[in-house]
Amino acid sequence: MILVTGGAGFIGANFVLDWLERSDEAIINLDVLTYAGNLENLKTLEGDKRHVFVQGDIGNSDLLIHLLKDYRPRAILNFAAESHVDRSIHGPEDFIQTNIVGTFRLLEASRDYWSRLKENEKQQFRFLHVSTDEVYGSLAKDEMPFTETHRYEPNSPYSASKAASDHLVRAYHHTYGLPVLTTNCSNNYGPYQFPEKLIPLMIVNALAGKSLPVYGDGQQIRDWLYVKDHCSAIRRVLEDGIPGQIYNIGGWNEKPNIEIVETICSLLDTFRPREGHSYRNLIKYVADRPGHDRRYAIDASKIERELGWRPAETFETGISKTVQWYLDNAAWVTHVQSGAYRHWVEKNYKERA
Ligand code: NAD
Ligand code: DAU
Repeated sequence: MILVTGGAGFIGANFVLDWLERSDEAIINLDVLTYAGNLENLKTLEGDKRHVFVQGDIGNSDLLIHLLKDYRPRAILNFAAESHVDRSIHGPEDFIQTNIVGTFRLLEASRDYWSRLKENEKQQFRFLHVSTDEVYGSLAKDEMPFTETHRYEPNSPYSASKAASDHLVRAYHHTYGLPVLTTNCSNNYGPYQFPEKLIPLMIVNALAGKSLPVYGDGQQIRDWLYVKDHCSAIRRVLEDGIPGQIYNIGGWNEKPNIEIVETICSLLDTFRPREGHSYRNLIKYVADRPGHDRRYAIDASKIERELGWRPAETFETGISKTVQWYLDNAAWVTHVQSGAYRHWVEKNYKERA
């Protein structure tokens, strides 16, 4: 079996669902269930013995040691993190705890477990760390996309904490020989994404007739990948990636934010028209994110060349499926928009008005 951390969050849950659609290899899913973790994402797995959910913290060493001893996974995939840049600006502490200290504790427990395995199991074991393109910093308009050897220049507390975790993962390979793999992926979108991130927030606000808050001039560029393509890339890296190596994951899909928002408005104008008004009328430019990175872009040639991975979706097919998913899953949206969510929206957007 494999151990997945953060498997009740956006990418983790998509990964767990995809994995069990394709394989009967069981998953232990360790997730502390922060505001971003939601067991409703895994509702279709209720009663499925291949999925063992454990509510717990990756920073809890005793729990990790027991889980590894009891379940003896052949691989650990670390998705667990605090993931929202704006939240890291308002309060970095949790990011340091989970992304840095938590990853360190997970590495320590993994090293201890791995060092006791039989030689053939030791060789086959993998620790796969899921990271982000944000660790590389911001690109100028004419700069080449990030390769795996691009210098680290994180600019937000979130990306700095992810950079630190990447360095720890690297060090555990270099120093102790732990067979690690690191993936650095660009912006994901798709089903089950918490509506604090750009794409789901815009869909949910538009449907509620609320304004669509575009930070700054809306010309910041992100490189978008449909979440299921990220999951297929992680499966490929786990299968055939070389320990100690880094793989950048992206779909060559750079777009300015304003174009994303306008595309969502056009799709909603088709799928759920508002009488007499385009959803575009709701677009509102608001104060920028402090230290806002201007452009991210991933050079995905290494994973394409060495592991033969390619994304299945284009941005057009992926965004259309995503908008349709949020239309079809209004109850999911209502449930995640709890009191705590409303408090966050008030805090983040009030000052930007
Ligand atoms: P998310 O915020 O939706 O989910 C994170 C999950 O981790 C939640 O279920 C949460 O409960 C859990 N978690 C948080 N702290 C924990 C802890 N201490 N112990 C156990 N579980 C904990 O995040 P996501 O968007 O699914 O991102 C998953 C991973 O992918 C993160 O490591 C993130 O840095 C990385 N990543 C995300 C993107 C993106 O666009 N969303 C892109 C590239 C990389
Ligand atoms: O690049 C990968 C990263 O992508 C991941 O590592 C992060 O976990 C993930 O959250 C994401 O970070 P971003 O900051 O790029 O994503 P977000 O959806 O928060 O914002 C995308 C862009 O949209 C960014 O330029 C800020 C802008 N934005 C965002 C929100 C929430 C707005 O203009 N308005 C908004 O209300």
